[in-house]
Amino acid sequence: MLKEVLWWLNIREGGVYLDCTVGAGGHSRAILDEMRGKVRIIGIDRDEEGLKIASQELKEYKEQTTLIKANFKELAQILKEENVDLVNGIIYDLGLSSMQLDSQTRGFSFRWTAPLDMRMDSSQALTAAHLVGELSQKELEDIFFELGEERWARRIAEFIVEERRQNPIKTTSNLLEVMRRAVPAKFRRGRRTHFATRVFQALRIKVNEELENLRVSLSYSFDLLQKEGRVCVISYHSLEDRIVKQKFNEAKEEKLNILTKKVIRPSKKEVRINPRARSARLRVAERI
Ligand SMILES: C[S@@+](CC[C@H](N)C(=O)[O-])C[C@H]1O[C@@H](n2cnc3c(N)ncnc32)[C@H](O)[C@@H]1O
Repeated sequence: MLKEVLWWLNIREGGVYLDCTVGAGGHSRAILDEMRGKVRIIGIDRDEEGLKIASQELKEYKEQTTLIKANFKELAQILKEENVDLVNGIIYDLGLSSMQLDSQTRGFSFRWTAPLDMRMDSSQALTAAHLVGELSQKELEDIFFELGEERWARRIAEFIVEERRQNPIKTTSNLLEVMRRAVPAKFRRGRRTHFATRVFQALRIKVNEELENLRVSLSYSFDLLQKEGRVCVISYHSLEDRIVKQKFNEAKEEKLNILTKKVIRPSKKEVRINPRARSARLRVAERI
């Protein structure tokens, strides 16, 4: 939803923009191109590998760009350290980058055998293998149900706990195999969404504390915007979108004007070109 973000952000020459999820630098690059470099970008990401790609992507705008490895829940502290009081716009493009999703070694996807890792920040101690290996059956069930809306949550948790008594579940393939046994055949075949998608997504959200980080970060973000500065949030999961909507509503009238009365979805054309965009939802608000 790059075009939409560029339009809604209402970029101004000389402005300072905080890209909370810089990833491979696509959004930041588009802002810099649009303004022919006459803006400053502060780009944050938890993922060191992503930041390396972003620094390549943005190398011709080195002077205007500051890239920082950090969790966006610390955005107030980050701006303070950069001696920036207020910014003209903040972007969140949540979820995983294509680089993360397509990595054959980081365990985000069940398409490859890899350690059950799923950390965006590789210096973090907790991995998905810890959750699968150590949480109680009830805790696993709750994660699969609440964060993945998985209808077989209870059975999958039961099978995991049974399996790990004999064999540790250490890889994506180990987990996939347990799920294959837990989910009835009828619900595994011919579905639009692969039967492991929701459980993998739930574990990833939990490992990276994605919902909590978003809640904390948004709570601080509105006070870091200049008057008429805008915050654009692209989410890919209904629970994320619910948090965005709720945080916007809490700040409505006192701090924010909500500009997107209805959530904005990607165009059919974008979804055709990039099917991963199909669940994207954009909300935008402006500082009063
Ligand atoms: C969908 S990608 C962003 C893609 C980016 N907009 C681009 O154009 O290349 C999401 C990125 O957000 C990062 N991320 C997710 N949660 C984060 C957090 N709490 N703090 C910092 N970065 C985070 C991920 O590591 C990932 O690189």
